[in-house]
Amino acid sequence: MDFRQITAAERTAQMFPLTAYAFTPSPWPAEDEERYRGRMQFNETALNLVAEEGGQALASVVGYRMRQNVRGLVHGMAGVASVASHPSARRRGLVRGLLERLLRQMREEGSAVSALYPFRPSFYARFGFVGIPRHRTATFAPEGLAHLIRAELPGEVERRPMADGFEAYESLTRRLLEERHGFSVFDDNQTAGFRDDKVWLAVARSEGEVVGAVRYHIAEYGGDLVAEDLLTTGPLGRALLLQFFARHVDQVARVTVTVGTDEVPELWGTDLAVTTEGRVNHPRKGGPMVRALDMPALSGTPVGAGDVTIEIPDDEFVGGVWRLSSEDGRLAVAKGSNPAATLTVGGFSALLYGVLDPVEVFTRGLGELTAEAISPLTTLFPRRMPYLFSDF
Ligand SMILES: CC(C)(COP(=O)(O)OP(=O)(O)OC[C@H]1O[C@@H](n2cnc3c(N)ncnc32)[C@H](O)[C@@H]1OP(=O)(O)O)[C@@H](O)C(=O)NCCC(=O)NCCS
Repeated sequence: MDFRQITAAERTAQMFPLTAYAFTPSPWPAEDEERYRGRMQFNETALNLVAEEGGQALASVVGYRMRQNVRGLVHGMAGVASVASHPSARRRGLVRGLLERLLRQMREEGSAVSALYPFRPSFYARFGFVGIPRHRTATFAPEGLAHLIRAELPGEVERRPMADGFEAYESLTRRLLEERHGFSVFDDNQTAGFRDDKVWLAVARSEGEVVGAVRYHIAEYGGDLVAEDLLTTGPLGRALLLQFFARHVDQVARVTVTVGTDEVPELWGTDLAVTTEGRVNHPRKGGPMVRALDMPALSGTPVGAGDVTIEIPDDEFVGGVWRLSSEDGRLAVAKGSNPAATLTVGGFSALLYGVLDPVEVFTRGLGELTAEAISPLTTLFPRRMPYLFSDF
């Protein structure tokens, strides 16, 4: 068995048959392959790995070179996708071999964290990943936001085809990368592939500054306005975009929009009837998963107070005994001794990302903690829900 890095140009012959069989209806129409080939120019910076036997690819993984904000510090992030093996080659450890190579190489090239969307979380838990929240969708009739229709807000919303608003959208996502916990973006090469997406873009500006943006399409007259992530820098951007939705009253029956767990749509209006759903199922709608790949790179992360030594056993990337302490509100990471807690990579990553507290880490079977470890781990890593944003 050969494990090999292939170019984007090789992917259509090598990877497409594996991933199309795994993830799309099949047999697939001939144009699917051409469409895939056409997208490969935007994948030239991705790390593409295959396991080959006799010149035939039997398994694949792809690593996107992304960036992610974790508690205010922006890291290189390995976005893992296209994980598939040929049915006749499954359960032979091929994907394990590929995934370990991918994480090793991307860590060496600067990724301190990794994220993916699982078909089954327990599969990726074996590789140290832990779940973070799946986004929610809010669905409501625009009438519920009638109070906004004539509101005088200090700003305006402009609707453009995605291609025309691309720079404004990009500048907003780059700003949110710096400001929002969990937010991740692709590299420039990959991002350029979104420019020609057939969607509308509503851009909210106040005094010339972009304060919100949302991609959307209208499914039919009298039907649904389907919006993607509601991206805003704060309440004004949100109000401007909601006002824009409200002005579709009598044109569409419902608006559906993607939001993070920190949004509370029932507070958007007094008479607003809204359904907010966080639907997780497998294999199609898994909540994303994350893991830390590089402990020293986490130094400088904004944290609360605390000083504790932990052990992460048996992990090639972050294994060891680590003293974690706060220096002026920033995490200091050093080699330590006499650990007060033993955490799996998933358990540590759950604390780092703010999705579980130490007691939950224990009850979920992700660590053994002494009583004196619980308090400093709780204060060092306060609960704080991440919003991954990028879908891949
Ligand atoms: C899921 C899939 C990629 C696994 O590939 P594979 O080559 O069989 O995986 P491996 O043999 O390397 O298995 C790795 C580990 O996961 C375990 N495993 C494999 N499939 C599993 C499954 N469906 N559920 C739980 N564990 C599984 C293996 O036992 C092995 O454990 P170990 O290394 O700790 O002993 C493959 O079945 C597939 O292509 N499925 C369809 C596409 C898909 O769902 N891809 C994932 C998208 S996120």
